[in-house]
Amino acid sequence: MFLNENFIKIDTPNTSLIFRRYSELLEIAYYGGRVADMDDYTIVSGHKRKYARSCSDDVITGNTTVCCYGMGCDRHFSVAIKNYDGGIANKFLFERAEKVEKPIIEGLPSSRDGKETLMLVYRDRDYDIELRQYYTVFDDTDVIAVSNCIVNDSNQTFSVQKLDSLQMDLDSNGYDIYTYPGTWARERHQQVTNLKIGKFSIGTVGGSSSHAVNPFFMLKRPERMGGYIAFNLEYSGNHRSTVEGAPTCITRVTVGMGDLGLDIKLSSGEKFHTPEAVMTFGNTQNDVTTSMHNFVNNHVIQKKYLKERPLAVNIWEPLGCDFNYDKVIAFADASAKLGAELLIVDDGWFGKRNAPNCSLGDWVDNKEKTGGLDNLSKAVREKGLKFGIWIEPEMINPDSDLYRAHPDWVLGNPKRYQTLMRDQLVLDIAKPEVFDYLYGCFENLMKLCSPDYIKWDYNRVIHDAYQSPELNGENYSLEYIKALYRLMDKILTNYPALMIEGCAAGGGRYDLGMFHYVPQIWTSDMTDPVERAHIQEGTLVGYPQSTMSAHVASAVSHAGRNTRLRDRFAVSLEGVFGYECDITKLSEEQTEEVKQQIAFYKKHRNTLLYGDYKLIESYTLGEGVVSITVSKDKSTAIAKIFRLKQTFDREPVKYKFDGLDRNATYKVGFFGREEKLICKGDILCNSGLDLFQYFLLDRKGEYTNEINTLVIEMEKID
Ligand code: GLA
Repeated sequence: MFLNENFIKIDTPNTSLIFRRYSELLEIAYYGGRVADMDDYTIVSGHKRKYARSCSDDVITGNTTVCCYGMGCDRHFSVAIKNYDGGIANKFLFERAEKVEKPIIEGLPSSRDGKETLMLVYRDRDYDIELRQYYTVFDDTDVIAVSNCIVNDSNQTFSVQKLDSLQMDLDSNGYDIYTYPGTWARERHQQVTNLKIGKFSIGTVGGSSSHAVNPFFMLKRPERMGGYIAFNLEYSGNHRSTVEGAPTCITRVTVGMGDLGLDIKLSSGEKFHTPEAVMTFGNTQNDVTTSMHNFVNNHVIQKKYLKERPLAVNIWEPLGCDFNYDKVIAFADASAKLGAELLIVDDGWFGKRNAPNCSLGDWVDNKEKTGGLDNLSKAVREKGLKFGIWIEPEMINPDSDLYRAHPDWVLGNPKRYQTLMRDQLVLDIAKPEVFDYLYGCFENLMKLCSPDYIKWDYNRVIHDAYQSPELNGENYSLEYIKALYRLMDKILTNYPALMIEGCAAGGGRYDLGMFHYVPQIWTSDMTDPVERAHIQEGTLVGYPQSTMSAHVASAVSHAGRNTRLRDRFAVSLEGVFGYECDITKLSEEQTEEVKQQIAFYKKHRNTLLYGDYKLIESYTLGEGVVSITVSKDKSTAIAKIFRLKQTFDREPVKYKFDGLDRNATYKVGFFGREEKLICKGDILCNSGLDLFQYFLLDRKGEYTNEINTLVIEMEKID
């Protein structure tokens, strides 16, 4: 960190962010590749001193990190305050910059193990309130974590009606905005939108980070500047990010939790601290991906989970709620024989739940079905497997004993009709009695069968929430999410050996807030390899493989297409691998194939989960998805080719495998085939391999598939 009277500079290993003090304001002078320390950066930012001559100095036209009504700027506001006198105009003037300890954000998760933190302090010119902005950098990633905090130093009460976590004004217009929208079973399909002048926003008001659009997004800078800047938010509730291109050739980015219903009253001495946002700059999309992956693995996920995750078999897709003790044991037997490590009993073990329309809330063992979870878990463990179970704690079905006893526990206005989704309503987990009830249910479950793993589901969005004013109802979404984090935290603190996997009808709550508690999330209910390849490509731009739960399901899944076992294997290999097909009905040949798949995954699990991932070819080009994951020491790499296009005579199928040690020699093998090649690293990186022969139509009618895959193993031998 570098501070002088006029400039403030913070560095990550490969990037720099420079602020310039001008008059009573602070401007962003530069954000991009790392630059050396200098006393004066006017040369990189001189033009920004452009307070329009016809206006007074009170009008902001430069690149700032804060803007609200009253600051002389009519672009998107990142702050909105209702002052004690009813006024809504404020003017924050820059006061000082300091190196500080990274602050704890009360009640919200934030990144761990920062290297150093810069605090920028602004004070309101007319009211006694302060705005603090925190920028934290890390040793091993180019991510910068940013948050805002408003402090009321007056004797009056103020109301914060909006406070984004980050505002970055960037030079120029014409950015390509990469967003990751979707829906159930089609999460995070990358979309690119070019923006010159105008406002583009992504977000949700459904109470969770959503299927609709993930909070991660990325900007590609115009060609003459080059590079990518990506953003995310460490929060699981509503979010709202905007990109606004101004005619003055500035693009403003804001990232935050939005302002639906927000009204945070700050009495004298109180403060409000936003969730943490993150941003990173990289020369290429893969650079951004590497930074985000390292950040999530090293600074979001708890260290204890950074190890080999168990290879799971889940009974949901093959059995649904239709299971009993014997069927589960048959799955356990088959799992153990194949070499799996964890068996998951999904939905249907509780109350009278035989279909997903009742009993949510009644977390009572249905012994008739399970044979008693105590017995069942014991029997599963005796086969050498870990035991996992599904739960959807935040929800309640109207057809449940819990609802009949406590209709008032629902997050809804008792005077209004409550929208049903999947036959369920949402519990007001911020109510102490609901919180205690749910924690009690977890305690009972832990006592009964002590699961090693819990799949924590959340299968609807919140449409019409209402929370009583005593419970801080105006801020229901924030209060709800804080209660969720408290509940997860309490469970994980009291049961430290437990691992929770997140899920929200697949990947509907796939965000950095969740990853603070859960190391992996069920990526999508879509398990068809063609569709999954698309979903996973989008997911992996901002989140590492270690977060992405991916199972080999039945040949025909939600997409209705018939697919081969080997293609489902290749695609699932991109994430935390497991099975979700009927493994009790495999033929001898399939059993052998699955055993080999499992052995291969186990051998390369560390590389696949924690190695450096690079996207080589994108789904959006229409030919397929090609990627490589290289172990940190470059001794092993696994390349995955998912080809969606048929290959005809003499059409090259050639990919360069960047990221390997160029001076080393590698043994190259192809999963499921005998042949091996010996190849120099520079050949693999610079020339690549022509893989035509592996994809050639063999005219036997086998290649009617819409996806053909190849898994390549590269091991350094010299
Ligand atoms: C959601 C999950 C599935 C499964 C079902 C159970 O849809 O995404 O994996 O757990 O709920 O009802």
